[in-house]
Amino acid sequence: MLKTFAVIGDPIDHSLSPTIHNAAYRELEMECTYIAYRVNKGDLATGIESLKKIKISGFNVTIPHKIEMMRFLDNVDDTCKKIGAVNTVLNDDGILRGFNTDMDGFLEPIKRKEIPIKNSNILLVGAGGASRAIIVGFQKEEAKNIIIANRTKEKGDKLAEFSNEVGLDATSIELNDMNDLGSKFDFIVNASSLGLKGEKNIIPSSLMDEQTTVYDIVYKPLKTDLINTAKENNSKIIYGYEMLLGQAIRSFEIWLDQKAPYEAMKRSILGGFG
Ligand code: ATR
Repeated sequence: MLKTFAVIGDPIDHSLSPTIHNAAYRELEMECTYIAYRVNKGDLATGIESLKKIKISGFNVTIPHKIEMMRFLDNVDDTCKKIGAVNTVLNDDGILRGFNTDMDGFLEPIKRKEIPIKNSNILLVGAGGASRAIIVGFQKEEAKNIIIANRTKEKGDKLAEFSNEVGLDATSIELNDMNDLGSKFDFIVNASSLGLKGEKNIIPSSLMDEQTTVYDIVYKPLKTDLINTAKENNSKIIYGYEMLLGQAIRSFEIWLDQKAPYEAMKRSILGGFG
C-alpha cells in the first residue's frame, strides 16, 4: 500500500530527512514516499488539517513546531511528555499519536558503540532545542551528574532546573567557567549551534582524554573543529550525523513497524556531504 510521510517545519528546504527516509524505502522496495512541507509559525493547525486530508501516514516535526505540536495530539508517549516536545507523529486512522525520537536518536550511537553511561559525568554545552532530550536520555541511563555551560546563563540555569527536576544532578555555569573545571569528563556534548558556521571550538582540551566521548550534535560540516580537537586528544568521537540517523531510524520503526536499513540510510547522509 502506498504510504506518504512528511517533515513539517520552517525553514525546511535543507532538511536531510526526505533523503534519509526515501533511501530506506528504496532499499526495502517499499511503496512509500517522504516529502518536506513548509509550515510557517502560526499555520500549524491548517498545516495539520491538510496533512490529514491527504491521509498522511506519519510525519516529523521540526523547528519551530516541536512544542506547539503537543496541543494537536490525541495521544502522547511518556518520553514526549517528559521532554515537553514532539518530533514524530503517527496518524492512526485520524488519531494522532506523538513520540519524541530525539532522545533515542541521541542515545543510539552511544549504545551501538557500547559506551557505558551509568555513573558518568557530563559536560553539556548549549541549552537550546535539543538539550532537554539529551538530558532526559542521560537521566534514563543513570548518568551521575551534568554541568551545563551556556552563553546565556539564565537559559542554562533553567535547563539545570529542568534536569534536577527529572532527577539528573545539574549545575549551570558560564562558558568562560569551563576553563576552571579541573577534571576530565566521561562525556562532552556540544548541543549548541557553535561549529555550524565553521567557528573554532571553545571547549578546553584539558577536559578531554582517551576516556572521554566527545559528541558534537552539529552535523554540518561533518568534521567540526571540536571533532578535530577531540581527535587530537585521542577521545572517542560521535558525529552529529549519527544522532540525525538515530532519530530517523526510530521514526521509521514507529511508523512502519519493521527494522530500518541502517547502512542505506547512513550512505544517504554521507553521500549528501559529497
Ligand atoms: P534555540 O535556543 O532557539 O532553541 P538552538 O539552535 O536549539 O536554538 O540552540 C542554540 C544554542 O546554541 C543555544 O544554547 C545558544 O546559546 P544562547 O542560549 O546563549 O542563545 C547556543 N549558541 C548559538 N550561537 C552561539 C555562539 N556564537 N556562542 C555560544 N553559544 C551559541
